[in-house]
Amino acid sequence: MEAGLYAASLTERVVEENPRAVLGLATGSTAVPFYRALVGLGQCGLDLSSVVTINLDEYIGLPPSHVQSYHCFMNDHLFSHIHISPENIYIPNGTVEDLERECNRYDEIIRENPIDFQILGIGVNGHIGFNEPDDLLVSRTHVVDLSPETICSNSRFFNTIDEVPRRAITMGVQAILQAKKIVLMAFGKEKEDIIGKAVHGVVRTDMPASILQLHRDVTFVLDRESAAGLN
Ligand code: F6R
Repeated sequence: MEAGLYAASLTERVVEENPRAVLGLATGSTAVPFYRALVGLGQCGLDLSSVVTINLDEYIGLPPSHVQSYHCFMNDHLFSHIHISPENIYIPNGTVEDLERECNRYDEIIRENPIDFQILGIGVNGHIGFNEPDDLLVSRTHVVDLSPETICSNSRFFNTIDEVPRRAITMGVQAILQAKKIVLMAFGKEKEDIIGKAVHGVVRTDMPASILQLHRDVTFVLDRESAAGLN
């Protein structure tokens, strides 16, 4: 089965069991086949109208109308294709003046809507959400300076590297680890090394995805290339 469809079918099980499930969602190129498959399942009868969605992160400074904002990504790839009430959709707002207040507001939303099922991608540097490699990991929603690797990697979506926002709001590792079930997707040769470290390496804050080893229900959905280092 195609990997995106497999991840979508895991989501389907959760939503069939609980139509009001809270889904933690990711953006990025890895997530595209997943949303395509989820939209397909929606067209075949999966009712997504009562789910609550909470996105992991958003760039600071990009308005929701900006084509590279994660608001726009989610509308393009999922929300405009399914019946979901706008009030059930949560994405951090990276345009507010008081970012600390926005982080607190987001933590309150997560507290009120505990995540049942968290979809993750992984950065080439091991980040999950935008929890970047560092001496420490922040548990709560916070403002992060994106690492040079992330800025470089995400520049493929922008005209020039100078257009890539330098900061983002991201859910912290606590909200991710408190999700009942986690599915991390990674595709392609460029993720092989990082997947090996995340799955088999020691748990380190400079390899944020390794913290998932502490969670009891994580599924890695990989293609052959990203999984090649696990043999
Ligand atoms: C995006 C996010 C990031 C991406 C990661 C992989 O919401 O949280 O952690 O999942 O940067 O991005 P792609 O899939 O573009 O390689």
